[in-house]
Amino acid sequence: MLITYFCKKGGVGKTTILGEHADYLASLGKKVLIVSIDDQNSIFEMFGKSSEVFNREDNYIEHLLTESISIDEALIEMRPNIDGIKTLNIDMLSKKLTLERAFEKQFVNLIEEFKSRYDYVFVDLPPSSNRTSEIILELCNHIILIVELNKLGVNGFYNTLQYFVDSGIELDKIRYVLPNGFSKMKSVPSVALEEIVTITKDNLQNAIVLKPIPEKSNIQTLQQKGIVIFDEDVTSLNYYQKNQKKLLIEVFTELFKSIKL
Ligand SMILES: Nc1ncnc2c1ncn2[C@@H]1O[C@H](COP(=O)(O)OP(=O)(O)OP(=O)(O)O)[C@@H](O)[C@H]1O
Ligand SMILES: [Mg+2]
Repeated sequence: MLITYFCKKGGVGKTTILGEHADYLASLGKKVLIVSIDDQNSIFEMFGKSSEVFNREDNYIEHLLTESISIDEALIEMRPNIDGIKTLNIDMLSKKLTLERAFEKQFVNLIEEFKSRYDYVFVDLPPSSNRTSEIILELCNHIILIVELNKLGVNGFYNTLQYFVDSGIELDKIRYVLPNGFSKMKSVPSVALEEIVTITKDNLQNAIVLKPIPEKSNIQTLQQKGIVIFDEDVTSLNYYQKNQKKLLIEVFTELFKSIKL
């Protein structure tokens, strides 16, 4: 099963929620692969594995595609049950995929091979439009659209739907819309949420708007420390951070239980 969290707007929480979802499924004993098709490779940071991205130059997905290494050699262990694969240069990869038909076939075959080895394959995409993302979005079984709860976020949501239509990607694949950054204390997120519900009703008959994720600064604190929410080792956290993490576990468990893959 191939899954992505997507939005054409940057910094809306794609990588964050995708990483936590992958970790949640792994905590249930599933075998999960995260393919970082974002050459920032920021998913490795949130798992505290950024040093592993830089300590080897020969294990990018590009090396897999030229068959200079095997899949096992490309894998970076993120957590028990979760492996990751990194990307070197999304623009170059996309250019080659656009120009060479045979290369596109090889890329699709590689993704199929990943799907056969793992229970769930999550693909972390960049916000830009490029050929690599288009191919992934076409191959995905589930696309969860993530929307930031403010005016620019709603615009980004709209642009994303337009991009799907323009690129011929089926809107029916979008089963869920996930609003991110809710706060009871502010009016902007509530207004944005209403707009998201209306746009979804009008354009995405197959999609459900999920319960919004609250805005929690602790998400960033954990990411800085390379800790994901379902991690059991919390020795580097203070008392307050441990309690906040417990609250996040509740929020994310409810969220991931409500997403039927
Ligand atoms: N609910 C939230 N509350 C507080 N901070 C959040 C929340 N969700 C995400 N963030 C923070 O927002 C920032 C951007 O998140 P993230 O990198 O996941 O976005 P992205 O959509 O993957 O970005 P990009 O488009 O650059 O790939 C991060 O610092 C993350 O910690
Ligand atoms: Mg990202």
